[in-house]
Amino acid sequence: MTHAERPSSELEALLDAAVDAIVLIDHQGVVQVFNQAAERMFGYGAAEVMGRNVTLLMTESDRVQHDGYLERYRRTGVAHVIGIGREVQARRKDGSTFPAFLSVGQIAGFDPPRFVGFIHDVTLRRQALAAVEHERERANRYLEAVQTMLVGIDTDQRVSMINRKGCEVLGCDEPMLSGSNWFERFIPAEQRAAAVFAFEALLDRQPRQAHYFECPVTTCRGERRLIAWRAMVVEDAHGAVSEVLWSGDDVTEARRAENELRDTRQRIMQVSRLATIGEMASGISHELNQPLAAIANFAQAGTRLLSAASVESEDIQEALREITAQALRAGDILRRFRSLMRHRQLTLEFASLNDVVSEIGSLTQADARASGVHISLDLDPALPPVSVDRVQMQHVLLNLVRNSIDAMQTISVGARDLRISTVRGRDGEVQLVVADSGPGVPEEIRERLFMPFATTKEEGTGLGLVISRSIVEAHHGRLEYQANRPRGARFIVTLSSEGS
Ligand SMILES: Nc1ncnc2c1ncn2[C@@H]1O[C@H](COP(=O)(O)OP(=O)(O)OP(=O)(O)O)[C@@H](O)[C@H]1O
Ligand SMILES: [Mg+2]
Repeated sequence: MTHAERPSSELEALLDAAVDAIVLIDHQGVVQVFNQAAERMFGYGAAEVMGRNVTLLMTESDRVQHDGYLERYRRTGVAHVIGIGREVQARRKDGSTFPAFLSVGQIAGFDPPRFVGFIHDVTLRRQALAAVEHERERANRYLEAVQTMLVGIDTDQRVSMINRKGCEVLGCDEPMLSGSNWFERFIPAEQRAAAVFAFEALLDRQPRQAHYFECPVTTCRGERRLIAWRAMVVEDAHGAVSEVLWSGDDVTEARRAENELRDTRQRIMQVSRLATIGEMASGISHELNQPLAAIANFAQAGTRLLSAASVESEDIQEALREITAQALRAGDILRRFRSLMRHRQLTLEFASLNDVVSEIGSLTQADARASGVHISLDLDPALPPVSVDRVQMQHVLLNLVRNSIDAMQTISVGARDLRISTVRGRDGEVQLVVADSGPGVPEEIRERLFMPFATTKEEGTGLGLVISRSIVEAHHGRLEYQANRPRGARFIVTLSSEGS
C-alpha cells in the first residue's frame, strides 16, 4: 500500500466493523487510515484527519511523549512502543479528552515503516473501577469505625480478615493475625473442641442462618475476655462457602456485673427459701414422725421380747432390722432436705448437653439393665453448647432416669423403654428429654408433682423433682412434665443456648 493507496473494500469493511478505533500512520506520524469507530470516538470525519499528523488526537503531554518516540525511532531504528499497550489521554475534535488504551503494532514489509494504533475508550471501565475502589474504601472505613469485632475465618479455620476493633480486643496487629489458626490461637483449650464443632456444623447447616453464642478468647496479652458472637456464613457467587464472619462484642464486664447480680439474687432466693423452711417444717416433722414412731414401736417390742420367758432371737433380729431401716429412711429424708436447702453455687461452663448425657451413660445403663429397662439415646449432633453446671445437671438427669426406672417396675420387662434425647427448641433453646413407657404420673399427685414430699413410693422422700427443678431454675431454665405418647411420662429440661 503506497501513500495514495486505499485499502481494498474487504479490508475497509473489516476496519469499519471494528469496535475499537484503528488509526494507521507512516513513520512521520501522518494519518493514512482512520476507521469509522475512530470517527465516532474522536468526532472527526476521516477526510479531516487523513494526511495530518496523529498528534492531533493527543493531549499536550502525550503529544510530547509521542514526538519523543518517533524521534527515538528515527535515531535508533528501534520502535519502543511496539507491542506494548499503555493508557493515554486522547483528545476529541471538540477539545474534550478521554482515557484510552492504546496498543501499537508495526506493519511488516514497509520501509520506511508504518504503524497501526488500536484505541479503546476506557472511560466506562475507569468509572467502574473508581466506583469499586470508592465502595471498597467506604467499606473499609466502616469496618474500621465499628465498635464491634469483625473476624473472617476461612474454611481451614484461618483468620482471613480482622478489623481494628478485633485487633484492639485481641491486643495484636492484623499482619500478625492473618493466616493463623483462629481456634488454636485464640480459643481457650477447654472450649476449643466445642467451638470447632459448632463452626463445622455451621458450615454444613442449611438454610444459612446467623448463629449466636458466647465464647471466651485468650488475647495476645494472655488475658481472657468473654465475647458474645454472631457467626454468619459468607458464600461466593457460586454458593460455595468462602468464609465465616464472626462479629463479636466484649461482654466480659457486663457478665461480671450480671454474675454479681445473680449471686445477690441467689442469696436473696436462699433467704426466701429459708422462709419456706418454716412452712416445710410441719411437712418434715410429719415425714420424720413415721420412721421415729416405727423405731419407738420396734424398740418397745424388742424390750418386751427380751423380758419374755422364751426369747426367739429371730424376732429380736427382725425388730433390729426394722429399726435400722427406719433410721436410715429418716436420715435419707434429712439428707435430701438439706441438699435442697443448701446454698447452691453453680460452676458454669460452656458444654453440650450431649456430653452431660454421655458422661453418665454407663452409670444409667448399669442401673437400667439391673431393672430390666432398655435405654435408647437420641442426641442431636448439632446441638449448640450451653452454659451449664455439668455435675448438677447430671444430678437432674439421674433423678429423672431413676424415677422412670422406678415407675416402669409395674409393667412387663420387655415393654420397659426409656428414651433420653437432646433437641434444639425454638429461639436458641436446647432441651433434654427423658421419656419412658411406664404408667405416667398418677393423677392424684400430678398437681403437687413438684412440691416437697409428694411421693407415691414407699421408700421415696418426694424431694427428687423439687431438687431437680431448683437446679434447672438456677440455670434460668425450666423443668416440665408432659404425658408421653402413646403412654408413659415425659420430663423436659429446657435451657437457653444464648447466654444464661
Ligand atoms: N417417670 C415417672 N413416671 C411416673 N410417675 C413419676 C415419674 N417421675 C415421678 N413420678 C411421680 O412423682 C413422684 C415424685 O417424684 P420425686 O422424684 O419428686 O420423688 P420420689 O421419686 O417419690 O422420691 P425420691 O426421688 O426422693 O426418692 C413419684 O413418687 C412418682 O409418683
Ligand atoms: Mg425420685
